[in-house]
Amino acid sequence: MKMQACLLGAVLAALVPLPAMAQTNQYPFQDSGLPVETRVEDLLARLTLAEKISIIHADSKFTTAAIPRLGIPRRWMSDGPHGVREDVGPDTWQPAGHTDDFSTAMPAGICLAATWNPDLGFSEGEAIGQEARKRGKDIMLGPGVNILRTPLCGRNFEYLGEDPFLASRMAVGYIRGAQSQDISSCVKHFALNNQEFERGSINVEVDGRALHEIYLPAFKAAVQDAGVWSVMGAYNQFRGQHCCENDLLFNKILKDEWGFKGLVMSDWAGVHDTREAALNGLDLEMGTERNYDDFYLAQPYLDGLKSGEFPMAGLDDKVRRNLRVMFATHVLDADRKPGSLNTAAHQAVARRVAEEGIVLLKNNNHTLPLDETKVKTIAVIGENATRLHAHGGDSSGIKAFYEITPLQGILNRAGKDVNVIYSEGYQKNGGENLAKRAVAAAKTADVVVYIGGLNHDKGLDCEGADRTSLKLPYGQDELIQKIAAANPKIIVVLEGTMVEMDPWLHKVPAVLQAWYPGMEGGNALARVLFGDVSPSGKLPATFPKQLEDSPAHALGNYPGTNGTVTYAEGLLVGYRWFDAKNIEPQFPFGFGLSYTTFKYSNLKLVEADGGLNGTIVTAQFEIENTGPRAGAEVAQLYVHQENPGLPRPKKELKGFKKVFLKPGETQTVLIPLDQKTFSFFDPDKKGWVAEKGEFKILVGSSSRDTALQGNYRLAETVFDKD
Ligand code: BGC
Repeated sequence: MKMQACLLGAVLAALVPLPAMAQTNQYPFQDSGLPVETRVEDLLARLTLAEKISIIHADSKFTTAAIPRLGIPRRWMSDGPHGVREDVGPDTWQPAGHTDDFSTAMPAGICLAATWNPDLGFSEGEAIGQEARKRGKDIMLGPGVNILRTPLCGRNFEYLGEDPFLASRMAVGYIRGAQSQDISSCVKHFALNNQEFERGSINVEVDGRALHEIYLPAFKAAVQDAGVWSVMGAYNQFRGQHCCENDLLFNKILKDEWGFKGLVMSDWAGVHDTREAALNGLDLEMGTERNYDDFYLAQPYLDGLKSGEFPMAGLDDKVRRNLRVMFATHVLDADRKPGSLNTAAHQAVARRVAEEGIVLLKNNNHTLPLDETKVKTIAVIGENATRLHAHGGDSSGIKAFYEITPLQGILNRAGKDVNVIYSEGYQKNGGENLAKRAVAAAKTADVVVYIGGLNHDKGLDCEGADRTSLKLPYGQDELIQKIAAANPKIIVVLEGTMVEMDPWLHKVPAVLQAWYPGMEGGNALARVLFGDVSPSGKLPATFPKQLEDSPAHALGNYPGTNGTVTYAEGLLVGYRWFDAKNIEPQFPFGFGLSYTTFKYSNLKLVEADGGLNGTIVTAQFEIENTGPRAGAEVAQLYVHQENPGLPRPKKELKGFKKVFLKPGETQTVLIPLDQKTFSFFDPDKKGWVAEKGEFKILVGSSSRDTALQGNYRLAETVFDKD
């Protein structure tokens, strides 16, 4: 009888179609056809208090707990930002020892920024997103967008340079690409984490204008333009309050003013107080410094909720934000994108970012590109020619599928008719003999490719400490001069972030800044050296002649005293300072040469009606490739206001466009400008003011080479809260 009823039921079920959800899902929140907010509310209503608490803190180094009774899986996070990090053990930073946790190692963030190509940022983000999915990750901890305030910051290599506009555009491209793959990016470290020295405690004092005009825009763009789903707080303090518990940053600016609907997580063990974390806008506490139940947002918060110290509505808001990110990234959905690892396309993106990010700083007498039909012997000199970097730098390190070193890249590309010899030249604790052998090698070669610079050792380009000097380490200043004396045809390739070059720059004919170019870096570098591709990178930060020329150091406002660092330079960060003080940089912001030449002409400012994305005027001009080779140029647009109501920098980057041109080709470039292009932050009015009056529009190939100038008159003053 029972059997019959069952069969009958089955027949009926086959005949009478049930609603789609009921066939596959038990609860409405499992129905991918429902709006995210409906799913969030449904799941929220089903969670017990203990389950809610479990969602807002870690249960291992990079996870939060699963809720098996509701089919909620563990949530996995990973660094970030240069690929998907090697897995670590559940409660330790030690590698887990897995064999399936390799990833494509993209070039470092500063190299991506040097491409000035947001489309490439999208491609990099997309590739990382795909790899994250394949590796089962839900939230990727990047990009890092802290502004380069001092050249010494140990994490400058991870970030996107000194300019808020450039960093914003690059971050937006990256995040859009990553989040297109059903994962959440996590923009970090919010905010003012501009040095590693005393990073866990240093208190930053900065005025309201610099805060809004320099340090916040990349975060704001990540939220408002890219729709980033997660934000990570910073370790440091801001105005006396830890950034992971900062009411002004989280509640007032990020959530109230910018309308952020996603989740705010702490940096690892960056929380210090239950009450502050509970009330000041933190939604997820990460780290492993204590038992997970003892996390500030675990038992202590639960106790406070039960005693009535904290409102339940606050907990629900945190949980809602976490669930929203889960649903928005399709964590529970059958059709979530599956991802892919180490594809030819990912490798190609890694190579292109490196090729477009390498900056040609000097090229006298067409030393570059090398002509393999003429060069017989190349002496490759320098430890960085064979050193692997992808795994270094701490949390941003990647267990790369492979890493082509510069020497390998040159060997691959040079072919069998060119004799490539290698000499290490220097080492951390190397002796005179290394230098002697390198000089001897240089003498036997037609050309020397010196590959030096910095590395990811602690105290150089590495998380957790700053550099102590802008000088090249390991006696490289002397070594380069000795080699140049032995063979003046020396091409200096520097890996790492910026260094002083004054001691030897005038003695060498060619210099390339190669940053950390990722696992395809050696191939990319070789393609640049041999002219398969013309360099098109531009500096995302000013290179000073000496450390004292850069603002924080000129003013003695680094690394701070008695635990506080005051950003006394205010708005005058990077080129804004060099412009204001008339200091000649070694290489200006936006600078970078090519193997071809470009001519700018015919600037027109075409008024618009504010229709298309709020454009009020479009800068239109032409760029012609006047040289013999294909190449790409980054046209940069800076704005200068005449007689502003409040002091403003002499010029500010407000637009750029990378154009690819064949020899002889001309392209018309259009850069749309909106109200925001002209505005500054008025701390008294607590908003953005675009003042009626005269502006100069400067267009050219770097911040110090603006061949075209136009005048624009803003007819009305406009105030905008946002
Ligand atoms: C770093 C973060 C990183 C986190 C997790 C912290 O030390 O500051 O950038 O995402 O560790 O590895």
